[in-house]
Formats: sequence, C-alpha cells, structure tokens
Amino acid sequence: MTTTLPWGRHYAMVEPDHFRVDYAINPFMDTRDQPDPVRARAEWEALRDVLTGLGARVEVFEARQDSPDMVFAMNLGLALAAADGTPDRVVMSHMRFAERRQETLTAAGSFAALGYEPGYVGRDGVGGSWESGDAFPHGGELLVGHGKRSDEVGLKALAADLQVAVRGLRIVHPAMYHLDLAFCPLDERRAMVCPEAFDADGAAAVLDRVAEPLVLTVEEALTFCANSVVVGRTVVMPACPPRVRAQLEAWDLEVVVVPMGELHKGGGSIRCMTNPLDITLGRDLLHVAGGSLDLG
Ligand code: ARG
Repeated sequence: MTTTLPWGRHYAMVEPDHFRVDYAINPFMDTRDQPDPVRARAEWEALRDVLTGLGARVEVFEARQDSPDMVFAMNLGLALAAADGTPDRVVMSHMRFAERRQETLTAAGSFAALGYEPGYVGRDGVGGSWESGDAFPHGGELLVGHGKRSDEVGLKALAADLQVAVRGLRIVHPAMYHLDLAFCPLDERRAMVCPEAFDADGAAAVLDRVAEPLVLTVEEALTFCANSVVVGRTVVMPACPPRVRAQLEAWDLEVVVVPMGELHKGGGSIRCMTNPLDITLGRDLLHVAGGSLDLG
C-alpha cells in the first residue's frame, strides 16, 4: 500500500517581476546570461496554472525590487500548520549570502498575513545560516541538507526551536547546493534521490530512510528533475529524463513537465519556486522534547 504525501496541496509563490541574475552565488548563475522577463513570467504563470489545475492552492507573495532571487520562494522559511490544519508558525530562513537576506524581511509579513507567526533562528556573523530549500519532513523527522547553504549551527538552532528531530545530511556536490536539488519525496515510501550530492554518511542516511528510492545519476539530477513538486499522484517537473519517467509511471505517478529554462538561469526550478504551506506539526513532524540533532 502506498500512501500519498499528506502535504503539498498549498503553496506560496513570489511574483517573478524582479527576477534577474545580478550576482552569482551558485554554479548556474552567470550575470552575462540574463533571463528574458517575458518568458520567465510565462514559465511562472504556467507553473501556477498547472498547480491550481491540480487542485492545489497558491498564495502569491509580493516581490522586492532589490531581490532578484526572491522568486525562489522555497528558501524564504519553513511554514508549519497546526494539527487542525490552521496556519501556525514559519521559521524564517537566515540566508547564507547577504545578497538574499533582505527577502525574509518582506516575506515575514506575507506569511504573517496568512496567519503564520514568523520566528527566526541564526544570526549574522556567528554562523547559524539555514535556508528552507534544505529541509523536508520525512518519517516524522526533518531532513536538512547542510554544508553549502545551511550550517551546523543553523541546524542546531532549528532543532531546538522546533523541538523536532533534525537529521543533517552533508551536501558535497557544488551544483546540488540545496537539498531540494537532490531529494524529492514522492509519497510515503518513495523519493527521488541523487546519492552523489551527499557525503557517504548523508547518502546512506537518505537511502536508509526511503523504502523505495528512485536513484538519480548526477546527469539526471542536473536536469533539475528532483526539483519537482508532487500534488497527490502528479509530479510537476521541469524536465523528466526517460528512465526517470518510466519508473515514475510504473509507480502510477503521472508526470507533467513544465519547462523552466529562464528560471534555471538563477539556479532554481519548480520546487525552488513553491514553498509548501501545509506541512503539519504532529503529523509530518513529530514533537521531540528539547529537539534533537543527528549529524551522522
Ligand atoms: N539563485 C538562488 C540561490 O542561489 C536559487 C535558489 C534555488 N532554490 C532552491 N530551493 N534550491 O539562492
């Protein structure tokens, strides 16, 4: 019996109007290769329309003119619902790079307007960076990538603040700098995983936790295929290599491809643009008194 993910039917997206490549903080970004604003908006709208067509709700957050990466909403913070489904809190990210830190000032207000109370972990200068594109609930714990964007101090603060079990996964591949580029939960037994994104312990920890992993090669992962969102039994993907499609379809998942070529110039894709708002405390993340951190 395969159980569909209980979350993934409600998202925040940020208006793409100010998306640009003003600096290069990941290997995909090149300031000489600017996105076409009209095509970028069309990609963003196509994604929003596919998600709403699948019955997901999409909240649209305002973008800051000074924040060309803010369209990558997944990184703004980890929003959590209460057991009764109502908005509870959002742990705002403390971005690794100063270029993105102002985004959360505005996004906190957008989350608050929906009823998520903003909280913060981490501080400038003393470590404690954490970016929510590194975090997914799985089996009651929070899996968090670290090493590129989030750091160990950030993970420790997160575990203590949320009072959940955090399992750190060290990311080593420069192009899979967030967990959501190498790991995509599909349902409660299955996930796409690119083990080469992680150190040996991290790869073993992910593969141990996923009953049926769809193991991606680096070449497959670099199509951004793990940076997909799952709404029920539908996987909304920016690209789907043939072998990956065959396995997803064999598992009775429907594949919908929405190309994101302009957004890829910023080093992000579909998951990066969609921040789930329905991850639920007590259901998807289990309370652990005091919180716990396992770095392997
Ligand atoms: N240019 C953005 C950055 O480097 C891309 C963010 C991608 N987001 C993600 N969740 N992987 O921060």
